[in-house]
Amino acid sequence: MRLHKTLLAAAAIAAGMSLNAQDTSNFVIQTNKIGAPIQPTMYGLFFEDINYAADGGLYAELIKNRSFEFPQNLMGWYTFGNVELMNDGPFQNNPHYVRLSNAGHGHKHTGLENEGFFGIGLTKGESYRFTVWARGKDQKINVELIKNNLDENHQALIKEDLSINSNEWKKYELVFTSPVTEAKAHLRIFLDSPGSVDLEHISLFPVDTFNGHENGLRKDLAQALADINPGVFRFPGGCIVEGTDLETRYDWKKSVGPVENRPLNENRWHYTFKYRFFPDYFQSYGMGFYEYFLLSEEIGAEPLPIVNCGLSCQFQNQDPAAHVATCDLDEYIQDALDLIEFANGDVNTTWGKVRAEMGHPEPFNLKYIGVGNEQWGEEYPERLKPFVTAIRKAYPNVQIIGSSGPDSEGKQFEYLWPEMKNLKVDMVDEHFYRPESWFLSQGNRYDNYDRKGPKVFAGEYACHGKGKKYNHFNAALLEAAFMTGLERNADIVHMATYAPLFAHVDGWQWRPDMIWFDNLNSVRTCSYYVQQLYSHNKGTNVVPLTMDKVAVSGQEGQNGLFASAVWDGPTQSYIVKVVNTSDKAQPVSLNFAGLKKNNKLTNGTCITFNSPNTDLENTIEQPNAVVPQESPVAIDGNMLTADIAPHTFAIYKFNKQ
Ligand code: AHR
Repeated sequence: MRLHKTLLAAAAIAAGMSLNAQDTSNFVIQTNKIGAPIQPTMYGLFFEDINYAADGGLYAELIKNRSFEFPQNLMGWYTFGNVELMNDGPFQNNPHYVRLSNAGHGHKHTGLENEGFFGIGLTKGESYRFTVWARGKDQKINVELIKNNLDENHQALIKEDLSINSNEWKKYELVFTSPVTEAKAHLRIFLDSPGSVDLEHISLFPVDTFNGHENGLRKDLAQALADINPGVFRFPGGCIVEGTDLETRYDWKKSVGPVENRPLNENRWHYTFKYRFFPDYFQSYGMGFYEYFLLSEEIGAEPLPIVNCGLSCQFQNQDPAAHVATCDLDEYIQDALDLIEFANGDVNTTWGKVRAEMGHPEPFNLKYIGVGNEQWGEEYPERLKPFVTAIRKAYPNVQIIGSSGPDSEGKQFEYLWPEMKNLKVDMVDEHFYRPESWFLSQGNRYDNYDRKGPKVFAGEYACHGKGKKYNHFNAALLEAAFMTGLERNADIVHMATYAPLFAHVDGWQWRPDMIWFDNLNSVRTCSYYVQQLYSHNKGTNVVPLTMDKVAVSGQEGQNGLFASAVWDGPTQSYIVKVVNTSDKAQPVSLNFAGLKKNNKLTNGTCITFNSPNTDLENTIEQPNAVVPQESPVAIDGNMLTADIAPHTFAIYKFNKQ
């Protein structure tokens, strides 16, 4: 479609085009030098069960402690009348259940109440599936959802009867529709017959989960992940890979198979910060490795599991005895090999069969595995080495990711990079949670990295602006600025994932985070939009770019401007990202040099992401306070001039015809 010239001119002014050539920063994009490929994995997601990201978050289960296996078995439950805790249930790894017996007097009630995760979110018109494993002959229970508000009657919002009709354990199901929206409901179950009934694995899910899976994921949260078009999905963490001790490390083998029999694990984030202490925070493993692989597949991302390398959290364990001795690593190495078999093995292999029985006979095509999370010291490479040997031997095509420790520079970082080169890992996972000043100073971080060594996975990063609850715009803007350096160096940077991903507004331990949520709503932060803009506009190849004839770096003398340019093969377009981190409007020119005479740039668009106030955040109350805007933009020949407003991330895109 051809836009009328005057319309284009008006749109161009709205997008910030300038007629003023004074002080202009001149960018030259070498259109005829299509450079290094940008990996499809370049912009991805890092998932860790921190901030109630899994149970109480992405995993759509609404009942806390559904199998009565928390160390205080009835945590999260209130009981009334005659309720006994039993421990010889039908699921070996979760033996506890409750027995509800008649309270003895007609007017007394026997039953129990679950508080959910900060309450149970119900949405008017949505259907919910209640399931329970039960045993009892000719028994009846009432299942109610109540409003948990002390000022009001605890009248049931929903009330259903369920008949239990067998002395053998059986799974029962009820599906009902909520007549109201309520963020913090509770579930109540009353015994409504003489006699007794046994109840185990009491569960409540919305029917409408992401892609409709019964043991599924919360739709709005999973959709937010899909909407990024992520190239890679890293899981399950983070520090929970290590555990506070080896006993509590993430053990993927316990996270697969029938969900009722997956054992509970501690979550180290329940006590990591005393000021955000959540004694009821555990890992049910209900969202386990099968669900992670499936989610990766459904959102189009390469799965990237991280396995424990025989080290427990080094922040918390200085005693060498807390780790696995190097001579005793076999079990851990076998776990890594078995994981690859679980993902890729055919249905006749031991672990491929487990995957098939769970509903996915086709392989998940795992291509990457991380060994160790954020490890350091000699104890790391000496453990990583036998993993590398074994994985290379059994699966030479699987790429191995090692770590450069918890710091973005310094002693451990300097020590570990050469070690990773010696071990010939394919990628090194770098982490940087750093302040604004660091992000401003790192635009050229990768310009001089050794091109012959392992590639870079910027596996956890976020700009930590001071004192903000969510993610204020300025932090996101500086992430955008820094990411121009990732993109210009896409020959060596192959993956990047912001962290952490999720936080419940009532249950967070760590902030900022990319997506916040409560029991009903979710918020895409400014950092989310930056990640999405990069992912949607990543292109296929780097294109050389200079500013005033020198390499772009965002450093001294470059007016607070950061930039990168890419070519996108499928759409035959050039995409230029410019970030103005300064508080002044910056006149720029974009010169698309090297086009052939008969080539024209058309269909110009400009996406701008800026905010009237750099402190602004998207919140539950105001989820769209700052969102990107797109408008058409005209170009005169191969040259565009524009004023980039203060504190603005601008993306220009033109088709080549
Ligand atoms: O993302 C939060 C934590 O930060 C991760 O668990 C860990 O890898 C890092 O220290």
